[in-house]
Amino acid sequence: MSWTNVLAASELPEGARKVVKVADQKVLLIHHEGKIHAVANSCPHLKLPMKSGKINENGELVCPFHRSAFNLCTGKASTWTPFPPVIGNIMGKLSAEQDLPVFSTKTENGEIWVEA
Ligand code: FES
Repeated sequence: MSWTNVLAASELPEGARKVVKVADQKVLLIHHEGKIHAVANSCPHLKLPMKSGKINENGELVCPFHRSAFNLCTGKASTWTPFPPVIGNIMGKLSAEQDLPVFSTKTENGEIWVEA
């Protein structure tokens, strides 16, 4: 694992998101409530992009497709494919629940770094 300079901090104001490439992976940066989070931009369910997922009241990033929810800090899944009703639950049983990969971040001299 090594640190990669991905972006100037000024390019990611509070509430902003951006997908960057780190070590051949697409990483989603989210500036949420004063903290820069870095998570895989690929949902562990069907590898679909997470970029447009909403953040719920528990601080979890919710996949825009089948609404699995992942803790932004740890990536831990709290809900696995609950949507659409009935079909989502059946789909969820076909694949093992997985967490969303998360990456460490730091900001130094106005630059955002991601460890991957
Ligand atoms: S692709 Fe994310 S929950 Fe299905």
